[in-house]
Amino acid sequence: MSRLIVVSNRMGDPRKPAKGGLAVALNGALNEIGGVWMGWSGTITDTAPGEGQLHVVEEGKITLAGLDLNQQEHDGYYLGYSNSVLWPAFHHRTDLIESDSEAQETYKRVNRTFATRLYGLLQPDDVIWVHDYHLIPLAMELRAMGVKNRIGFFLHIPMPPSQIFSAIPEADWLMRCFYHFDVLGFQTQDDAMNFRLYAERILGEDPCSGDQIKAYGRTVTSRAFPIGIDVDQFRDLLNHPDAVELSERLELNSLQRKWVTGVERLDYSKGLPERMKVFRRLLEKYPENMRRTTLVQIAPPTREAVDAYADIRNELESLSGAVNGEFARIDWTPIRYIHRHVSRAKLAALFSISKVGLVTPLRDGMNLVAKEYVAVQPDDDPGVLVLSRFAGAAEEMDAALLVNPFDIESTADTLQRALSMSLDERKERHEALKRVVEDGDVVTWCNGFLDCLRAQR
Ligand code: G6P
Repeated sequence: MSRLIVVSNRMGDPRKPAKGGLAVALNGALNEIGGVWMGWSGTITDTAPGEGQLHVVEEGKITLAGLDLNQQEHDGYYLGYSNSVLWPAFHHRTDLIESDSEAQETYKRVNRTFATRLYGLLQPDDVIWVHDYHLIPLAMELRAMGVKNRIGFFLHIPMPPSQIFSAIPEADWLMRCFYHFDVLGFQTQDDAMNFRLYAERILGEDPCSGDQIKAYGRTVTSRAFPIGIDVDQFRDLLNHPDAVELSERLELNSLQRKWVTGVERLDYSKGLPERMKVFRRLLEKYPENMRRTTLVQIAPPTREAVDAYADIRNELESLSGAVNGEFARIDWTPIRYIHRHVSRAKLAALFSISKVGLVTPLRDGMNLVAKEYVAVQPDDDPGVLVLSRFAGAAEEMDAALLVNPFDIESTADTLQRALSMSLDERKERHEALKRVVEDGDVVTWCNGFLDCLRAQR
């Protein structure tokens, strides 16, 4: 079978403990058939632009290729265009776009550097799988160098509707980049439809049936491949000593108490200030939760050099402080807000004892926390997933309690409903959700995408 080449901004290094299911699945696939994983090395050096070292290491059947970037490359490509233009735009926050033509040029240049360096590692039969918004122009760059291999792309974040996409500076160039791939994978049917409607509405292409879309004189296969988690690996974490120890401590702490848990990077797309307001409303409107219900909100820092991320941090600290100042009692703190990284073993333990998984992003590609929460619920006494209808996961996980996170009042009511749900209803919903999570795991996702890509031409 032809080798697999994975390219992503962050690399899943099989020599280090895997952070998530994605790295496990892709390393699994690479280990089976052999191939290359190329990405940013994580190191910033002071080399000239385009001259960063490519660190190539062989690890069994996998070749790891990590590219160093210099400060200006990292700032323009990662902080600048990727995270100050594409991330806000794709999450429907065109108001947060910080357009900067130098950053955009750097984004293009770094993609060209990725292509040039990858070129030297390619064999004619290789199948190339590119991940996420940092690398949208990569196929166009490779094609310009004469690369004929099959190239697929998976977008981990939402695909915005055509009107929003067209607000991105140089939207037409960006859209054209997509058409140099053979297969485009999206998280949801809605995302795939948004991509198709851009061709019809903005580019004036004929309506197409099926998943072949034509524009710019090229044809691309576009389809939804909802990503999943490695269910067994996540469940196994419950046996990790850190998880066992934390479970014991949480149980001692939780006599007569209920935990509501939220976990995400501290990102403005995650709806964290709204969540604090929901919790405040819950305490005001349903005072029986006083002393009994605690929100544990874990929100590790991310992309702090981008202004919008510093702003959200200040807002969240002040909101959680205000709720605690108003409602705390000497023996009870309503919100435990943790702005640090917490190990996955501890998260598994925390999810498993939490009565509610509160997953309320304003916009999210998929949201794997929703799936991880379900994976570790005890069958005989499962908790309830409260899920934003604007998370990609809502398309499959409609047995959760779905909410509009912008509507504080009704989300507070739904949270109360979750906290007081009967055991029978909880079990019924959990069974349905568990099936979704188990049937659509990360290996199914990975194989589904690769089968589709291999079937091209
Ligand atoms: C999202 C993106 C990923 C990214 C991750 C962490 O899930 O889809 O591509 O790796 O966030 O963000 P960071 O900027 O730290 O890589």
